[in-house]
Amino acid sequence: QTLELELDRIEKGGYEHFMLKEIFEQPRSILDSMRGRLELEAAHLNMGGVRAYERKFVNADRIIIVACGTSWHAGLVAEYLLEDLARIPVEVEYASEFRYRNPVITERDIVIAISQSGETADTLAAIELAKSRGATIFGICNVVGSSIARATDAGAYTHAGPEIGVASTKAFTAQVTVLTLLAMIVGHKRGTLTDSKLRELMVELSNIPAKVEKALLLNDQIERISETFKDVPNFLYLGRGYNFPVALEGALKLKEISYIHAEGYPAAEMKHGPIALIDENMPVVVIATKDSSYEKVVSNIQEVKARKGRIIAVVTEGDTTIPDMAEFTIEVPATSEVLMPLVSVVPLQLLSYHIAVMRGCNVDQPRNLAKSVTVE
Ligand code: G6P
Repeated sequence: QTLELELDRIEKGGYEHFMLKEIFEQPRSILDSMRGRLELEAAHLNMGGVRAYERKFVNADRIIIVACGTSWHAGLVAEYLLEDLARIPVEVEYASEFRYRNPVITERDIVIAISQSGETADTLAAIELAKSRGATIFGICNVVGSSIARATDAGAYTHAGPEIGVASTKAFTAQVTVLTLLAMIVGHKRGTLTDSKLRELMVELSNIPAKVEKALLLNDQIERISETFKDVPNFLYLGRGYNFPVALEGALKLKEISYIHAEGYPAAEMKHGPIALIDENMPVVVIATKDSSYEKVVSNIQEVKARKGRIIAVVTEGDTTIPDMAEFTIEVPATSEVLMPLVSVVPLQLLSYHIAVMRGCNVDQPRNLAKSVTVE
């Protein structure tokens, strides 16, 4: 018994749960996912799996991303990245819908399948369908040699290391890292990303592990905030642009492990429904970092405040406007708009973790959920 407990403690590296350990591993897992791919000195990006299919990517009519769960959220970030940097139209599909829909797919399409486990049945079936219609399949998996990794034409592994917690954390940031590199490489080859812009992004991306490290210092503050909200029945998460998928991911993390009902929304869609839910009991997490939609998000915060919603704002360090409007302000380091999800998701992971722990939930193995879903 004591030996078992001791082994468990060692496996968790001194952390109370795998999820917390994995959240704290992110500076390292992001770095590992860029290692050998981002060569700053040589001003060179290198992804073996892309090289062989470079022409396909450059000439692609369209990219279709298929995934489930958190991996689907990474796919949504990739939609913004690939359209912004590489100017290729992107569609992001739930694998389970795509596989049964009779989708229009051609040989000039590239299908990117994203999966931590590489074993998700719906994602695998979506790949088989796309393959049978002639598309090129590119996989982004964490588990080496997994079924999805083997079913693809080419791909790139995320080097997040084993993820044990059912709620995905470090796999998500590793996926976003790899997808960012992919969008940068393809954008540069297509000429939509200039040398200087590429260089700028490379430098900024190489700074991300340190910024995530800094965001992790928010842990104590977030633990205190969690105390205030641990007993609420609902949560709303809002974000725009690159932070919209982050809002979805933050809400998913919370509902998965704390069983609090949470919804993520693009902040501007709030007026088409969720605003009706806002009263003095509704906590609203708004990701409001300094980017091209900042002013608009500030107006959305005002709309929430006018209805007495309780605002928890994730802002860029040094923001002087939002702290006056929000009940709680969480400051994350500044970075390029396109890289912000890698940083802004961290406090949301921590928030869900602490709330779940305070509610006495089994954070590593939440009820009814499985780490990999190998059946439909
Ligand atoms: C399950 C897991 C999620 C994961 C999803 C997709 O629902 O609980 O954490 O995001 O499957 O899994 P995959 O391995 O394909 O990324």
